[in-house]
Amino acid sequence: MSEANLPFNEKVYVNKDKSSTGEKLKQEWEKSINNPLKFWAEKAKAIDWFKTWDRVLDDSNPPFYKWFSGGVLNITYNALDRHVKSKKKNKLAYIWEGERGEVKTYTYYQLYREVNKFAKALKDFGLKKGDRVAVYLPMIPELPITLLATVRLGGVHTVVFSGFSAEALADRINDSGAKILVTADGSYRRGKIVPIKNNADQALQNTPNIEKVIVVKRTGKEVTMKEGRDHWYHETLTNAGASAYVEPEPMQATDPLFILYTSGTTGKPKGVQHGTGGYLVWAYWTLKWGFNPNEEDIWWCTADIGWITGHTYNVYAPLSLGITSLFFEGTPDYPAKDRWWNIIEKHGVTILYTTPTAVRMFMKFGEELINKHNLSTLRLLGTVGEPINPEAWKWYYNVIGKKKLPIIDTWWQTETGGYMIAPLAGIELVPLKPGSATYPLPSIKAEVYNEKGETVDVGVKGFLVVKSQWPGMLQTLWKDPERFKQTYFGRWPNIYYTGDYAVKDQDGYLWLLGRADEVLKVAGHRLGTVEIESALVSHPAVSEAAVLGKEDPVKGEVPVAFVVLRSDISPSEELRLDLIKHIRTTIGPIATPAAIAMVKRLPKTRSGKIMRRLLKAILTGAPLGDISTIEDEASIEDIKATYEDLKRQLEK
Ligand code: PRX
Repeated sequence: MSEANLPFNEKVYVNKDKSSTGEKLKQEWEKSINNPLKFWAEKAKAIDWFKTWDRVLDDSNPPFYKWFSGGVLNITYNALDRHVKSKKKNKLAYIWEGERGEVKTYTYYQLYREVNKFAKALKDFGLKKGDRVAVYLPMIPELPITLLATVRLGGVHTVVFSGFSAEALADRINDSGAKILVTADGSYRRGKIVPIKNNADQALQNTPNIEKVIVVKRTGKEVTMKEGRDHWYHETLTNAGASAYVEPEPMQATDPLFILYTSGTTGKPKGVQHGTGGYLVWAYWTLKWGFNPNEEDIWWCTADIGWITGHTYNVYAPLSLGITSLFFEGTPDYPAKDRWWNIIEKHGVTILYTTPTAVRMFMKFGEELINKHNLSTLRLLGTVGEPINPEAWKWYYNVIGKKKLPIIDTWWQTETGGYMIAPLAGIELVPLKPGSATYPLPSIKAEVYNEKGETVDVGVKGFLVVKSQWPGMLQTLWKDPERFKQTYFGRWPNIYYTGDYAVKDQDGYLWLLGRADEVLKVAGHRLGTVEIESALVSHPAVSEAAVLGKEDPVKGEVPVAFVVLRSDISPSEELRLDLIKHIRTTIGPIATPAAIAMVKRLPKTRSGKIMRRLLKAILTGAPLGDISTIEDEASIEDIKATYEDLKRQLEK
């Protein structure tokens, strides 16, 4: 998104009396900044601790901040046991709708039972505190149950999105050193069965750490079960017994809770590690501040639990708050383009939290499909994952929100654990501006810097940084503290570098302008260009590759690849399809380039660096700018010659 033409002056007063001045929000923010220790000591009381912390924040070894050190808790006690002991015992925790329309519900008590049974099974398989469990499951109830069962025992989960390939799964299993894998016999996608157990089997050929594989029977399709290693999930539950109970493991607040791999600027995904106490406190408060869900609400966060949004806002935040969440296995347009509106109407969803990509897709489908449904139960709308362009924001507000519902645009990252910049309906809703995530949350001191680390003027685009600490911040990168330090705190010491561009307007509103590094956001999914390039050069026909993002009206951006073939290989349509297949099997379908150009050479500087800026300019038809450092000017003509072909591929 470009900063030009942003509606800095357009204010949308959702609360019609225009009474909100932002004063209350400002006060809360100032309290958190002036005395963070007091502020968080107070907020952390919302959580049940087995032992209170010794220090709210141990900052003796920055940037390895320790939140609530000395505190002891178990996150599942907060998500389940405490509700089971209260009036919430028989309240719905989850409403699940499967792709084929089946519905399953779980009260807090039923969920507690399932989690205990599976925790017992995992314990019987030898899972102990600190052991890692890899999870490769579709959006079925067994997914949150597995996460909760793991952390009840003090295990650390690492969820691998079920759309990732066998190779991506194996890498993550090996890096995390997981000893148990939980997967399924298949998943449903648009009425077809995706054989994820086959992917898992392929991955398992190269994962020596895995001792046990537990398989959920979702599709009933026959799969290979390896004697001694593979076990059916339902059988493990039967063996555990209907009344199984496992004591929640007392965990240090600073013990790791999960590892979630995300893309960065190198070919190797980063294992973002979140801790227990700080993460939970942040998850709880951000959801409460952002949406203030109540006893009657049905909260629907459409994110897959394979991503951070699903971890925080489909599992830990809503369960610790004791609210009812809906989650859905399928895709928004199957079997019909109004599937989501059907779900909202059928279950009476009150809060919808989704992505700009979904909003833009529905814009394309047209209003008629929406107006067919009664969406009057909705009271709040949210968005996350990528910048929402003002046009999509307005459509969301006008058509879904009928000009009455606030749009809670939440900016955050896998690393931040929960929202960082967002309107806060739970504190005070300020006037909204279409496309702005408004103000930072309490505890978040966000600034926009130039290259030199100076705060830029109002209206000037720069790098978004965070100058404070917050409980939800990542603890480190798994087994790579040096990369953690370098990536996030290396550019400006002790200041968190987000990797995003932003601009602040005259009212202090923040506008997020996309990534400032080699990371793409494709339909809200985070992909490193280097990751896709590495996958391309691992194909025997490719000697070099450069991948960049091209703006896309629905997905925000899509990857476009330029590849140089080995000298004995000629370009062909067959090869292009083979390269696509190769990306799908090395990373997964989400990384599929929208277009691939086969070129003789790439534009490089004399020192051999690929001039991505030039590639981008050629791709978008922008002026080439300064080309004085180029090694071989003829490469520009090569790239230009591919323009029509790329355009054709992109239009498909
Ligand atoms: O570029 C920002 C974009 O998504 C990145 C983080 O991606 P990921 O770790 O996959 O987490 C996504 C879900 C939290 C950010 O660096 N991003 C996320 N939310 C927004 C956003 N960009 C603009 N507006 C948002 N609301």
